[in-house]
Amino acid sequence: MNLATALKAQETPRIVAAAPAGPPAISLRGVEKVYRTDRIETVALQSLNLEVGSGEFLSIMGPSGCGKSTLLNVMGLLDRPSNGEVSLGGRVVSSYRDKDLAALRNKEIGFVFQSFHLINDLTVVDNVELPLLYRTMSGRERRRLALEALDRVSLSSRVHHFPTQLSGGQQQRVAVARAIVGKPRLLLADEPTGNLDSAMGDEIIGILTELNERDGATVVMVTHDERQAAKTQRIVRLFDGRQVH
Ligand SMILES: Nc1ncnc2c1ncn2[C@@H]1O[C@H](COP(=O)(O)OP(=O)(O)O)[C@@H](O)[C@H]1O
Ligand SMILES: [Mg+2]
Repeated sequence: MNLATALKAQETPRIVAAAPAGPPAISLRGVEKVYRTDRIETVALQSLNLEVGSGEFLSIMGPSGCGKSTLLNVMGLLDRPSNGEVSLGGRVVSSYRDKDLAALRNKEIGFVFQSFHLINDLTVVDNVELPLLYRTMSGRERRRLALEALDRVSLSSRVHHFPTQLSGGQQQRVAVARAIVGKPRLLLADEPTGNLDSAMGDEIIGILTELNERDGATVVMVTHDERQAAKTQRIVRLFDGRQVH
């Protein structure tokens, strides 16, 4: 092994776990995203080909404005690419209607955002139940699943608190509980530790790692933090909307 290869190997700290047989969790082919406003055209993503294996834990890194959030939103079916094809678990979703995309997203994808996005007027457990309101199930079953999710993030003692009564790290744990309450196969996190100190950030990464390793969730995380990214199986770097390696 020459020095360059050795250094590169060092950058990838863990061997990627053998992906289970079957289609990739997400596959992007020739994806482009152009934002057009009256005067300006911004190319946020270009010529992007990316496959995320089922059961993988991947981070996306790159400077501010390089398209990381756009990429995550396209992967999460929150936004449609201007060109190219997106497949989720082997299904090409480009031709899906908005309503069907929303249903698929609700069932199979959990999101975590930098600024938590909790509803401050609702208690912790009510926040976590929210994604389940779109499904047919009894109130009792919703509550059971929400409490189970809160237990996974060690917040069983805070279920009747309001978000503003919690620390930032606890609020992000509530957001993670909300993301996993519907048992999605895919978790997408956009700078989930960006507003947290490093100890709280480590806790969140620990929870995401456990969901990946123990529950087999596919996790894609945008981060600015090399230390957190190094804990994941693979790093994809973007620059000006393109993958650099
Ligand atoms: N809704 C939008 N309308 C117009 N331009 C946008 C929109 N969202 C993002 N952009 C532009 O697309 C580029 C990529 O943005 P973004 O994906 O948010 O980058 P990052 O998350 O890496 O900081 C930026 O130049 C940004 O200004
Ligand atoms: Mg962003």
